[in-house]
Amino acid sequence: MDKNDVLILGIESSCDETAASVVRNGREVLSNIISSQIDIHTVYGGVVPEIASRLHCENINGVIKMALRDADIGFEDLNAIAVTAGPGLVGALLIGVSEAKALSYAIDRPLIAVHHIEGHVAANYISHKELEPPYVCLIVSGGHTHLCVVRDYDDFEIIGRSMDDAAGEAYDKVARAVGLGYPGGPKIDRAARTGDPNAISFPIGEVRDRPYDFTFSGLKSAVLNYINKAHMTGEEINVPDLSASFQKAVIRQLVDRTVACAEELGFTKVAIAGGVSANSALRKELEKECRKRGMDSYFPEPIYCTDNAAMIAAAAYHSYLRGDFADMKLNASPNLKLGMKAGR
Ligand code: KG4
Ligand code: ZN
Repeated sequence: MDKNDVLILGIESSCDETAASVVRNGREVLSNIISSQIDIHTVYGGVVPEIASRLHCENINGVIKMALRDADIGFEDLNAIAVTAGPGLVGALLIGVSEAKALSYAIDRPLIAVHHIEGHVAANYISHKELEPPYVCLIVSGGHTHLCVVRDYDDFEIIGRSMDDAAGEAYDKVARAVGLGYPGGPKIDRAARTGDPNAISFPIGEVRDRPYDFTFSGLKSAVLNYINKAHMTGEEINVPDLSASFQKAVIRQLVDRTVACAEELGFTKVAIAGGVSANSALRKELEKECRKRGMDSYFPEPIYCTDNAAMIAAAAYHSYLRGDFADMKLNASPNLKLGMKAGR
């Protein structure tokens, strides 16, 4: 370990993963602990906020201990504590925020408030050590679908967004309707691998006069109508075909708009971030379309696509260098918009 190294402990508890990670110099992951609650929430078909908060409360100390042990460091070696301050479930966020404040006070190290979505974008810096702003980034998670230009590490210009459901939400709703259960994205991804994407023709959503915005409600309704009709006529649904056909429509919308935006604005670097960026077909299609146009595409490794704390520590690094710290008044911001500063 070099004496100039910056070691940041990241803490993430915005939804159903309790996570802690130590990251060196914003890009090198020394440990990455994720305690997932998925098995428990699956029983209810989705995340139950109060259960999520209680489990974060139970697990957070153990998760942090493991992150330090795996990184082979002690609290005294840390330069800062970073935590997701929003957006997310308020009760879940408060566990991480309170823990981070207590730690920061106890070991006398600065506290850094991180925007969860900026964390997802920063996951790309872990997987691509050479990636630097500016570039175009498509952010696709359970709650967000944003097309933006990352002008600098802390400067996001939003070019387009979903007018209704987020892409991950559409995956989850379709998966539930077809009986695949929660969380839907990875299940549809898997089922689609053996399906025919041309089996069913679903509409690719379009927002009139807004070429970089997204809409998934029409597509979702078309899939639900198809399922209802099949139930009424007693027709059996081919889940792999339905998954592949739905996914094809989602991906066309996401990839075509992202690549068109990069082309129009003159960018040659295109990244994706958020849980849906783990999708194998989306990654393949974006890479193909970028390659055709001489653009470079970037995706985080799958483990850094879905919620984790390494991305939070990575995002905090540049705030650390700027001296952009939160104080002991830091609170959770459940509705924090992209581009708004966490912890203000
Ligand atoms: O970013 P994330 O882990 O949490 C939020 O910040 O929302 O995203 C979760 C979303 C869920 O909707 C989940 O179904 C979706 O990401 N997801 C996927 C895949 N893995 C996770 N969607 C499509 N394909 C996947 N492989
Ligand atoms: Zn997330």
